[in-house]
Amino acid sequence: MTAIYPGSFDPVTNGHIDIIRRALCFADHVVVGVVSQNVYKKGMFTQEERVGLLREALSGVDGSERMEIREFSGLLAEFFDECGADVVVRGIRSPIEYEYDLAQTLANRQMNPRLETIFLPANPAHVFLSSSIVKEIAAFGGDIGAMVPDCVQSAMRNKRQ
Ligand code: COA
Repeated sequence: MTAIYPGSFDPVTNGHIDIIRRALCFADHVVVGVVSQNVYKKGMFTQEERVGLLREALSGVDGSERMEIREFSGLLAEFFDECGADVVVRGIRSPIEYEYDLAQTLANRQMNPRLETIFLPANPAHVFLSSSIVKEIAAFGGDIGAMVPDCVQSAMRNKRQ
């Protein structure tokens, strides 16, 4: 089974890594799909930087040889077929997020009836975590060490300088 885990990953957090590790437990192959730009968000890192950070952060993860990081710029429904995927994986942190994600999932299925989605409940330790929260804490010089991989921490420090 090939699973796609899509996102902006601006930047990747420990919450995302937890979902990828868990996806590797049931999928033979996991494609981490890095969207070029989320139309509603202004990014901090370029797509190339986000991919580089993911690559570094995931290099030590068990099963990383069954994982691939790919960039995409169009619809997830189309990228799904390009990857020959069987399922999309989404991490869910709250009921509000589920409602939002369910609407996206239904829209994706409308466009591609083959597309199935598996929702994984976020690790309780990560329910508060998002890329925006990490960026805000870092912008004020707060400690993000427990929230992101080391490479992200230093990349964010470099961005601030
Ligand atoms: N742990 C910690 N944080 C998590 C998380 C987890 N398990 N899961 C999600 N997050 C965070 C992300 O960091 C992100 O934070 P931010 O809003 O501060 O940046 C936030 O939760 C939202 O994540 P997500 O819903 O995954 O948004 P995204 O922008 O990362 O990805 C896509 C959204 C890529 C899946 C979606 O935009 C997409 O499919 N785009 C392609 C175009 C398309 O097909 N659009 C039509 C869809 S109907």
